[in-house]
Amino acid sequence: MIGPGTKAVITGGSSGIGAATAELLADKGCGLVLVGRDAAALAEVADRTGGRACVADLAEAGVADRVLEQSGGVDLLVCNAGIGWAGGLADMPPDDIDRLVRVNLLAPAQLVRAALPGMLRRGGGHIVLVSSIAGSMGVAEEAVYSATKAGLNVLAASVRQEVAARGVGVTVVVPGVVDTSFFDRRGVPYRRRSPRPVPASAVARALVRAVERGRAEVFVPAWLRLPARLRGLAPTLTDALQRRFG
Ligand SMILES: NC(=O)c1ccc[n+]([C@@H]2O[C@H](COP(=O)([O-])OP(=O)(O)OC[C@H]3O[C@@H](n4cnc5c(N)ncnc54)[C@H](OP(=O)(O)O)[C@@H]3O)[C@@H](O)[C@H]2O)c1
Repeated sequence: MIGPGTKAVITGGSSGIGAATAELLADKGCGLVLVGRDAAALAEVADRTGGRACVADLAEAGVADRVLEQSGGVDLLVCNAGIGWAGGLADMPPDDIDRLVRVNLLAPAQLVRAALPGMLRRGGGHIVLVSSIAGSMGVAEEAVYSATKAGLNVLAASVRQEVAARGVGVTVVVPGVVDTSFFDRRGVPYRRRSPRPVPASAVARALVRAVERGRAEVFVPAWLRLPARLRGLAPTLTDALQRRFG
């Protein structure tokens, strides 16, 4: 699936996990389209990886079709762009709720919808959704962010059932905490004791390996699978443990 000639579109390719993924895919010979708003940062990653920059704000309606039209076909779609917001839901400005849902959930749904017909016609392709452990657990002061990521998990599970028999793979990447500009951008630093931040390159490696092996889901670090599974089995206990140790 990943190799010379693979056309990959990476949203959020201008920094963090997206830029690290672009570097790995470029090393494997993929042709890249890097999507983001920051033209200078995109151009820098594009120079490094031989990719093409596509400046677009994923919060805007109709942008998914434009991005995929400009890409001229996609074999590997990596929906990675995302934003955070920290604080109690009662204090969250309504526009910020809209923006989080548009960027983190609606844009990936629209991109997947726009990418699928070509993949199904060709009988092959792969979709990656970059979620978060927050979407598996629920996290205080990150309610809407967590909800968007939970939405991605279920979007992936549903689409996987629709397309599995038709040659298209769907992978969800579930990072814990990653050392990127994500926390600076949301305006509140990461303060919890656990999980510890991992480098963006570790997430990128796990993402690429999961696509190559056709995995449905990959947690980074891998031990995060445990609390996520425990939450499904014993939500009250898990909530209590999160309040005590989170
Ligand atoms: N860092 C963590 O601890 C962590 C943990 C779990 C999951 N994640 C997820 O990992 C993904 C990547 O985040 P990161 O950690 O690599 O953070 P990052 O360095 O801040 O990257 C976020 C990327 O999203 C793009 N983006 C944001 N809003 C956009 C918009 N409206 N339109 C187009 N692109 C937009 C940014 O590009 P521009 O600035 O160019 O628009 C940037 O390239 C996100 O989905 C995040 O939720 C991160």
